[in-house]
Amino acid sequence: MNYLAPSILAADFCILGEQLDKVNKSGAEYLHIDVMDGMFVPSISFGMPVLECVRKRTGLFLDVHMMVAKPERYIEEFIRLGADGVTIHVEACDCIEQTLQKIRQLGAKTGLAINPDTPIEKVLPYMYLVDMVLIMTVQPGFGGQKYITKCLDKIKKMRSIVNDKYPNVKIEIDGGVRLENLKENLDAGADVIVTGSAVFKGDIDANIKNFMKIMG
Ligand code: DX5
Ligand code: ZN
Repeated sequence: MNYLAPSILAADFCILGEQLDKVNKSGAEYLHIDVMDGMFVPSISFGMPVLECVRKRTGLFLDVHMMVAKPERYIEEFIRLGADGVTIHVEACDCIEQTLQKIRQLGAKTGLAINPDTPIEKVLPYMYLVDMVLIMTVQPGFGGQKYITKCLDKIKKMRSIVNDKYPNVKIEIDGGVRLENLKENLDAGADVIVTGSAVFKGDIDANIKNFMKIMG
């Protein structure tokens, strides 16, 4: 089963509510929320006030991607404001186990992300606490970048480990996914497809329909 997770990073924030209404009606299951702190990644995006507003406007699964140093500082607040899943980066957190446990205790799904240059072995010790592994397919920090092709092998490798040992864990990919490279990523084993610019730039309804056609 595959899921589409449009990323609001590429949305027009002047008309975010209207754009969310379109995503709500589109058949997408997740909404991806990219939180950037200017420390773990160079750019700063948005945080609590935006999450709080988005929660009021949608019932979609709010998939919060924390590109934040020491994300453990914000878990409680993000879940209180409506995050359904919280993904932390293996490179950004010194207490991964405790943080994942805390996310679960607070009733949300756990995600663990790795950057393109981080080997998948880094997430393996934590798999028993993980609902979703996020394999970054661009360097985190900006939307609209080009997909890094070497990541396809990581997705395939992760798919085989998940199938063998952790059949309930989802594999999410994030960055540079467009209609042209969607199929090869699905074939490699991705379950949750994040896409920002390919959905929000242009006609949102038509873009999502085109993704859904390929996702089946
Ligand atoms: C990048 C973010 C992505 C981004 C994807 O750091 O994590 O979620 O919004 O955007 P596109 O699909 O435009 O690469
Ligand atoms: Zn993201």
